[in-house]
Amino acid sequence: MFKSVDRAAILKYWTAERKKQLLGSKKLLLLPWEAPDVLVTMDLMNPEGSLTRSQTKKLLQVNHMLGLLRPTLQTLASQHSLLRIAEGAAGNSYVSLLLAWYFTAVEKHPVMIIATDSNPKVVAQSEARAKHLGLDKVLKFACQGLESFDWKQLFQTLFPEHWDDSKEESAEESLKRHRPHFFVTLHACDSLSCKAIHHGMELKADVLAIAPCCQAELAAQWKEVKDLSSPMRAIFNSPQLRRATAADFTDTIRLLLLRSLGYDCEAIEFVPSEHTPKNRLLLAQRRRQYDLKSLQDYVDFKGVCGSGSIELERLAQGQIDQFRQKL
Ligand SMILES: C[S@@+](CC[C@H](N)C(=O)[O-])C[C@H]1O[C@@H](n2cnc3c(N)ncnc32)[C@H](O)[C@@H]1O
Repeated sequence: MFKSVDRAAILKYWTAERKKQLLGSKKLLLLPWEAPDVLVTMDLMNPEGSLTRSQTKKLLQVNHMLGLLRPTLQTLASQHSLLRIAEGAAGNSYVSLLLAWYFTAVEKHPVMIIATDSNPKVVAQSEARAKHLGLDKVLKFACQGLESFDWKQLFQTLFPEHWDDSKEESAEESLKRHRPHFFVTLHACDSLSCKAIHHGMELKADVLAIAPCCQAELAAQWKEVKDLSSPMRAIFNSPQLRRATAADFTDTIRLLLLRSLGYDCEAIEFVPSEHTPKNRLLLAQRRRQYDLKSLQDYVDFKGVCGSGSIELERLAQGQIDQFRQKL
């Protein structure tokens, strides 16, 4: 099923000139001549070392993403002797496969990764890739939708050797002690990204990395607004502006709620914009305390939005309402 890697051909292919052409002034962590197995297995390189245009693009993207997340991941690894990672809506599980490779081959740091997706076909394919790369001891998969994402059940089923129930503590304390340290979900469509954020927050993950996609929920609500006195009416009435603005507003609401409810959060560009327009990453680090100023920013921002709400607001309604009383 997998093409076998021709190491001799790869070393011959990657002449000094080709390396220079690929790298320019860039420093890549994942290099074709150093990590051929993972790249060929993930279809990011041909077995003899050549790269198509689209493989080159993807290779630069994944390197950029890995470089961007690396400081955060290194900090987490320095804090946790066994780093626990969860990926939702993983698709081809590029991120999980790369992280499993990175912690095994580069950092040599113990890691356990659980990647989930609702599509059994992509789950089976990713599972086969992990096995082929010898990463199946640290990276496991499950077919599970984000609606019913259940970290405790996944953990106990897939990595029972790491679940420690020897302590006397409440179920909540136990779940917190076994939480994922890094919760990543890239390009989960529309309100699925809200669900991912909510799971990450509920689980008290140390870091959330969420790349939103197809933010259609707010745009659909704006389309129905008939209020001609709204200062947003020009946007509501222009389909392209409505979709683009709603996407930005959706992510702003997500960012403000994350900040309000205990995370430091920034929106950053995670793959260069020439590669894909879907290049926003909400990177959030848990700081524990809720933040009143961010909640006020959220309330003020909602005043500008006028109408509509997103899934995350509904999922976190109880916490928002309780905290709002302090304003
Ligand atoms: C656009 S792909 C993104 C895949 C991958 N994260 C990436 O960035 O390449 C969206 C993925 O979400 C999965 N998906 C769709 N509905 C889902 C659900 N309810 N729960 C979990 N995953 C879902 C799809 O099977 C698909 O693999």
